[in-house]
Amino acid sequence: MGNEKELKIIEAAVRIIKERIDFEPEVGMILGSGLGDYADRIENPVSIPYSDIPDFPVSTVAGHKGQFIIGDCMGKKVIAMQGRVHFYEGYSMKLITLPIRIMKRIGVKKVLLTNAAGGVNKSFDPGTLMIINDHINYSGSNPLRGENFEEDGPRFPDLTTVYNKDFILRLKEAAGKRNIKLEEGVYMMFQGPNYETPAEVRMARLLGADAVGMSTVPEAIVCAHCGIPVLGISCITNFGAGILEQPLNHQEVVETAARVKTTFEEVVGIILREVF
Ligand code: HPA
Repeated sequence: MGNEKELKIIEAAVRIIKERIDFEPEVGMILGSGLGDYADRIENPVSIPYSDIPDFPVSTVAGHKGQFIIGDCMGKKVIAMQGRVHFYEGYSMKLITLPIRIMKRIGVKKVLLTNAAGGVNKSFDPGTLMIINDHINYSGSNPLRGENFEEDGPRFPDLTTVYNKDFILRLKEAAGKRNIKLEEGVYMMFQGPNYETPAEVRMARLLGADAVGMSTVPEAIVCAHCGIPVLGISCITNFGAGILEQPLNHQEVVETAARVKTTFEEVVGIILREVF
């Protein structure tokens, strides 16, 4: 399969974004479920709804707004995606990761990926913030499938260090100084949209995962392809299925994300000021 359709969307998006700003954002941020409010902190914001970009995939999930917000934040020029599109919404992985290829073309050098996730590690209570130090792609697909975007990276990219080790070290040090507790672990992506079964959560734990979710891995893979270093943060919003004898629901996910909003925003502030 060729990339003509995707390249057309990328080119249009890059043109539209460049028309509205006169600088190159250095940092890209993708804000996950219930975490999108951080974009309101961006100063001198330029908002570009995804619907302004022809054929750009639009999110259908409650709690996910759909726009780029570009501006100043904690001394950095940033472009934030307020709301991401998920694989389970029916789009191809190639399509849902176009924002990363667009960010690369407007000058982004570092990316922060955030998400809401279920805890697989039983010591991670809801409300825990986990630095992603590696991932398991259990989605059954791959955003690099099909013709290679030659101008972005090689056919067979290395994923030994998708999640930049220096970023992780600096974040742990800076958070430690402020007594902010951050855990660290492996994120495993399931396709969704159903939450996992208890047996799947037990499998995830056996395979070495600490958290499960339905996003982030495609974007991280494309960042690796494009040579952009990534920092990933999961907000553990609930115990994975079967850990407690109670059903899971989206409401709980959004509520926990709202409860840790202040700490999450403090951590993002530290990342922008001291890590990136
Ligand atoms: N599983 C998958 N995705 C999630 C979960 C979960 O338990 N919580 C928030 N996103």
